[in-house]
Amino acid sequence: MSVSPPSLLSATPRRRYAIVGLGSRRVLYQDGIETTHAAWAELVAVCDANPGRLEHARQRSGKNGAPAPAGYLAADFDRMLRERRPDVVIVTTSDATHHDYLIRAMEAGCDVITEKPMTTDAEKCRQIVAAQRRTGRSCRVTFNYRYSPPRSQVKELLMNGEIGEVLSVDFHWLLNTHHGADYFRRWHAQKRHSGGLFVHKATHHFDLVNWWLGAVPRAVLATGRRSFYTPDMARRRGLGGPHQRCRTCPETARCSFFLDLESNPLLKALYLDHESHDGYWRDGCVFRPEIDIEDTLGALVTYDTGATLTYSLNAFSAWEGYTVAFNGTKGRLEHSVVESVYVDGRETVPGGESSGGDVKLRLVPLRGAGYDLEPWSAAGAHGGGDRLMLEDIFPPARPTDKYLRAADERAGVCSVMIGIAANHSLKTGARVELADLFGELPAPEYSPVPAPRAALPAPLRVG
Ligand SMILES: NC(=O)c1ccc[n+]([C@@H]2O[C@H](COP(=O)([O-])OP(=O)(O)OC[C@H]3O[C@@H](n4cnc5c(N)ncnc54)[C@H](O)[C@@H]3O)[C@@H](O)[C@H]2O)c1
Repeated sequence: MSVSPPSLLSATPRRRYAIVGLGSRRVLYQDGIETTHAAWAELVAVCDANPGRLEHARQRSGKNGAPAPAGYLAADFDRMLRERRPDVVIVTTSDATHHDYLIRAMEAGCDVITEKPMTTDAEKCRQIVAAQRRTGRSCRVTFNYRYSPPRSQVKELLMNGEIGEVLSVDFHWLLNTHHGADYFRRWHAQKRHSGGLFVHKATHHFDLVNWWLGAVPRAVLATGRRSFYTPDMARRRGLGGPHQRCRTCPETARCSFFLDLESNPLLKALYLDHESHDGYWRDGCVFRPEIDIEDTLGALVTYDTGATLTYSLNAFSAWEGYTVAFNGTKGRLEHSVVESVYVDGRETVPGGESSGGDVKLRLVPLRGAGYDLEPWSAAGAHGGGDRLMLEDIFPPARPTDKYLRAADERAGVCSVMIGIAANHSLKTGARVELADLFGELPAPEYSPVPAPRAALPAPLRVG
């Protein structure tokens, strides 16, 4: 995909953007608007609960060579919409707060773009879908994983029917103890903020499978527990802890999970320097007792097509990446990636997408010899996916995407509801029908018959 040249677009007024939630993920959008896409986009306002990060974002505009956007504290979000009149609001706050800003922005006449997961529970999902249908505004969910070239290549192969009808999928995601541990340091470690890894992290993976198959999930049976990031594991590793946080920990020299905020300019400028405003610690002890999310997860998902997904997520693996295999009526498609990981500005793991050779694609027909395929590739974060996604968001003239990678709230619901239902299944031990929590799921844009975006979801069958 290529961005249209500015000459074609000189008469097009720039779209006015506001961003709410000014942590690390915001930087991707701010830099995209203020640099690569400045010909057709401008950042007119930024908003955050933390005045320090608000100022950090405004100063970054100067480094980008752009005028500083107007800054608003969270309590003034509605005033920001009135005064700055953005066309689009980008929501990059913590997960459980997305719905509030999405709904208020759509009600004020703005289009919205939200980071994944769209939200964290079924009721918030319903509220977002209802607001979209009431207002008719565009609600986009940024599933950047779809844009990673080898994952688009998998879509291409499946669309072309290379292995026939997909009957089952085996998908196993591994987070190593650099990246995986990071979900246990801050707000992600509490389900009330993140929905746990079934929602916060697996929303990417469930969306990929939904989109790859072009299918709508129906039911989930899940298992999971916190087995590694526990107080007991700290002791088994020879520590006297757990303690509260790395900054005040008496055992930093002996703990391989020590995160030094002071010596990392990025983390210091974004978090440490502003924690007096809100008590947001970026370096909570990964073994502390109050963590309530799982690190070891498994799920069986069934689809409207009859296909099944066997899924696992482990957050303490020796390497980072994934394996996925599709079993079809004409053969099997296998794909695996060993990823590089960026957590604190220094950490990487050996290998990784950037080093090449760690992305594999293999097609095995039912009859005849299997063969390896040359993986598609691109440079940049998240396997090149972030850059390609921005090129699909900001320019006014975009080529038609045959993979339909631009996702809206329907795909947001379908992915996040698997994780929400999985959390219910963890509590009850029972298989959970997604419709019992949400009502009939809206078939996303990639489905054979996408749901019209006019009808409200059916009433709940259970509370
Ligand atoms: N697609 C991806 O690959 C990807 C990667 C990282 C993060 N994310 C998502 O991006 C979002 C932000 O993640 P992050 O890592 O930047 O988190 P972060 O904690 O660094 O930043 C969140 C920001 O939101 C602010 N905030 C929190 N609650 C708020 C509220 N109610 N009102 C206003 N501001 C509030 C915080 O002060 C902070 O500045 C999350 O939803 C996360 O899941 C997606």
